[in-house]
Amino acid sequence: MPGWIVPPPKKPIKSNEEFKREREAKVGELRSQGFLKSERIRKAMLKVPREVFIPSGYRDYAYHEVPLPLPGEGSTISCPHSYPLFYEPLGLDKDHKFLEVGLGSGYGSAIAKEVVGSEGLVVSIDIDPVTFEFAKMNLENAGYNDIVLVRSDGGLGYPELAPYDRISITAACPDIPPPLIDQLKTGGKLIAPVIREKFQELVLLEKSEERLDRMVICKVLYVNLRGIFGL
Ligand SMILES: C[S@@+](CC[C@H](N)C(=O)[O-])C[C@H]1O[C@@H](n2cnc3c(N)ncnc32)[C@H](O)[C@@H]1O
Repeated sequence: MPGWIVPPPKKPIKSNEEFKREREAKVGELRSQGFLKSERIRKAMLKVPREVFIPSGYRDYAYHEVPLPLPGEGSTISCPHSYPLFYEPLGLDKDHKFLEVGLGSGYGSAIAKEVVGSEGLVVSIDIDPVTFEFAKMNLENAGYNDIVLVRSDGGLGYPELAPYDRISITAACPDIPPPLIDQLKTGGKLIAPVIREKFQELVLLEKSEERLDRMVICKVLYVNLRGIFGL
């Protein structure tokens, strides 16, 4: 993971109580830093045990502000602030139909499921077969049985359940894959890291009848999108 200093793997020793304290502290920190604003996203981050989504060698670092390696080719669980960084501008909310491209550990889809609630829908795609099986196991262990998991090239989206209210791409793409724009509802929003020369920008798209509005939020650093719209 270029650009990040990942701590060395070690035997996990932290208790559930310690993780709970760290989770509460992290949520408080993200709120005071201005990343977390909405009550639903805050409650989701307090509820989902991030440590369950992390390989045992890195589990004790669950609440460190660093992406951690996952089984599979270059996959990572993004750092904790990434989730409100994406979901707040996206305006992810109750009852939304949400598509995530880049399932990774499954943590982001669990948070999204808590936010959209029982009437909403989360669909998440990963291209990597090893990462996909890891996420599936994590979500089962954490009790999330109602997220639609798809192993395929997420650049193509998942037309079977389109259109979506919100779409999040969690890997850096040279440009937003056109099928994902097609699968976004009118009035919907999409967020993605987009490669621009040597940097990546977090881009928010808003689709209306007439046009696509594009806003750059900040610079970011994500693993590259694979597949036909990737690198
Ligand atoms: C930063 S990680 C995702 C983190 C994840 N959201 C989480 O909460 O753990 C990016 C993921 O995108 C996946 N990926 C890369 N290219 C993809 C593609 N074309 N379609 C679907 N997934 C892709 C990688 O396998 C990796 O798991």
